Formats: sequence, C-alpha cells, structure tokens
Amino acid sequence: MKILWCITGAGQFMEESCRQMIKVSETSRVTVVFSEAGYEVTRMYGLLEEVEKRFTDIVLEKKQGASAPLVGRLSKREYDKVVVSPCTANTVAKIVHGIADSLVTNVVAQAGKCNVPVYVYPTDSKKMQKTRLPVTIDAIKCRKCRPCPSLENCPTGALYVSDGVRVDLTECRGCGMCVTSCKYGAVELGKEIAIECRDLDVKNAEALKGIPGIKVLIDLSEIEVK
Ligand SMILES: Cc1cc2nc3c(=O)[nH]c(=O)nc-3n(C[C@H](O)[C@H](O)[C@H](O)COP(=O)(O)O)c2cc1C
Repeated sequence: MKILWCITGAGQFMEESCRQMIKVSETSRVTVVFSEAGYEVTRMYGLLEEVEKRFTDIVLEKKQGASAPLVGRLSKREYDKVVVSPCTANTVAKIVHGIADSLVTNVVAQAGKCNVPVYVYPTDSKKMQKTRLPVTIDAIKCRKCRPCPSLENCPTGALYVSDGVRVDLTECRGCGMCVTSCKYGAVELGKEIAIECRDLDVKNAEALKGIPGIKVLIDLSEIEVK
C-alpha cells in the first residue's frame, strides 16, 4: 500500500496524526506532504524532527511552487490513497468550494480526477472542540527573573523580552527546554484549551461528506494499518 499523507497547519489532531502516520508507515510506504503552515506547525509542537528522521520521501509546499508538480504522481497511479490529517478549516473550505491553489488542495483535486480515494480528518468539525497550544507563557505565573532561564536556555533564540517574556513561534522547535527551565511553571507546551468553532467551518466540514471520492474520518484508526 502506498499512501500520500498530507499534513496541514493544524494544532488540533497534529500529534495524533503524526503518531498514526508513523504507525501506518510500519506496513505501508508513506510519502509525507507538508503545506507551508503544516511544516511550521509540526515544528512548533516538537514533532518535526521525528517525522524528518523517520521519513525519506517528504514533499514541501515551499519547494513545489505554485503549480504543484507532485500531483503528476497521482496521474501515474503511484499512490493507493491520499490522507489529509490534520486538515485545517482553511483547507477544508477550499476543498468544499473546489479551490485548488495550494499543494494539498491540488493533491485532493487531482486525486478526484484519478479515482484515488481521499481520507480527510478535519479540525473545526464540531462547535465545541478541545485542542492543545504550542509553547505559551503565563504572564501571571512569570516572576520576571533576570536573566530568565527559559530565555537563556532556548536553543533557537525563540524567546525574547517585550512587555514580559514572549515566544516567537516561527523560531520555536517545541523542544520543551523553556518548560523545564522555568521553576515557576510559567511556560507550558501542549496546554489544553476549549475552542468554539465558527458555524461556517463546522458547515464546511459537514459538506465534505457529500463530495464523491472523499471519506471524512471520525477516528484516525480508520486509516488501516496493513
Ligand atoms: C499553533 C497553531 C495552531 C493552529 N491550529 C489550527 C487548527 O487546529 N485548525 C485550523 O483550522 N487552523 C489552525 N491554525 C491556522 C492555520 O495554520 C492557518 O489557517 C493556515 O493558513 C492554514 O494553511 P493550510 O491549510 O494550507 O495548512 C493554527 C496555526 C497555528 C500557528
């Protein structure tokens, strides 16, 4: 079984998606496709290093340019299925409205033309959802230590001072060094929060179910491991 696994920029379901993709790769050949946001968000949650270590065939939106030549592989029937997990509300909206102006939406559109089944695990599919945040700094718990050990120990220089200590997530690799460096528990990675999704996004996720060739996943274990 050959699978084209697309990762878009969602924190929700990101860890589960990467874990399931690794599990599936034990019995199937997996090519990983990252949207630009997907690559950044995977890094923020500290998962990118492991994905890059385990997978050799990784396709980046940044390197594909605007025309997404990767999709030619679908025309050549190189893959048995496409998985989009996690799938952001942004990518869901584009798929539902027939837009193909990004790498992942091009993959989905081409899969539809080539009769390759697409499995989508959308975020924002229910009104109330739980999700986890990347690195956050609690301004109340922060004792404003100078020097700040979390900032000093950050290997990528992602922490900086501006009205308290802040994190530049575009520089963060989610290594957690800042978390263990703060003895006051002011820095957290993976803090759980509740979010209220927009009705529009919930509606789009529902509309996905009506698109021929697309199966909306309720649970990631529906991606067979064989
Ligand atoms: C840390 C972080 C987490 C995010 N989580 C989500 C999410 O769970 N669902 C979502 O729809 N967008 C989420 N976003 C926003 C998307 O990354 C953004 O809309 C992006 O443009 C999506 O592009 P893509 O669909 O091409 O990957 C998140 C952004 C960040 C920085």
